Amino acid sequence: MLSVDVGVKAERGNDVDNMGANFDSAFADFLSPMGAHRGRMVCASRMVGVIFRAAGFHELDAATLYGLLRLRVDVFVVEQQCAYPELDGRDAEPGTRHLWFERDRVPVAYLRILDFDGPTARIGRVATAKDARGLGLASQLMAAALAVVGDRPVVLHAQSDVVSLYERYGFRATGPEFVEDGIPHIPMRRDTAGR
Ligand SMILES: CC(C)(COP(=O)(O)OP(=O)(O)OC[C@H]1O[C@@H](n2cnc3c(N)ncnc32)[C@H](O)[C@@H]1OP(=O)(O)O)[C@@H](O)C(=O)NCCC(=O)NCCS
Repeated sequence: MLSVDVGVKAERGNDVDNMGANFDSAFADFLSPMGAHRGRMVCASRMVGVIFRAAGFHELDAATLYGLLRLRVDVFVVEQQCAYPELDGRDAEPGTRHLWFERDRVPVAYLRILDFDGPTARIGRVATAKDARGLGLASQLMAAALAVVGDRPVVLHAQSDVVSLYERYGFRATGPEFVEDGIPHIPMRRDTAGR
């Protein structure tokens, strides 16, 4: 598992090699300009103690997995009042990577990358706890996800009122709005880094 204390220091877990060479080196790129990243943090001082983590499913201990799923359910099922299969069976796939920020060991922002090893990756379940919003956490997770995906195409289904967040990272709409689980979405794609 890779672990970074955003406010204090950056360090790597010994088991980061298990994530695969691409994952490791891409995070090196994401983390090496740590000063620059800290500079970009909108509210860096409020983020001291917020730790960035990334892991495959089998690196997650029970307490961490519980925390991640609780955050997702709190946001997508409870807050958004949507009864849908939040636990869709894809979290444990070998090609799934989980990225999140935690504070006092409690996850406060999360996303997952599906088909991490495939030709086209998919980002999903982007969520920030209510009391941690507006700090740039979802933005930082997007930057981290794109760093590990590299030049490969990435697709996602954006909730329609959050499209601008993804446009900022080079995603463009690829089709008309559609309703998924009762919520309007826009299909989006990012073809190569920087385009
Ligand atoms: C969308 C969400 C993940 C953003 O998390 P966050 O950590 O607060 O995001 P950031 O602080 O990085 O802000 C990113 C940008 O998105 C914008 N944004 C965030 N939530 C938004 C919303 N609901 N509607 C419109 N814009 C929004 C912010 O204004 C910010 O832009 P700014 O920098 O110009 O102010 C969070 O509001 C959330 O969990 N919402 C409920 C779940 C959801 O909609 N997830 C997205 C699924 S596609």
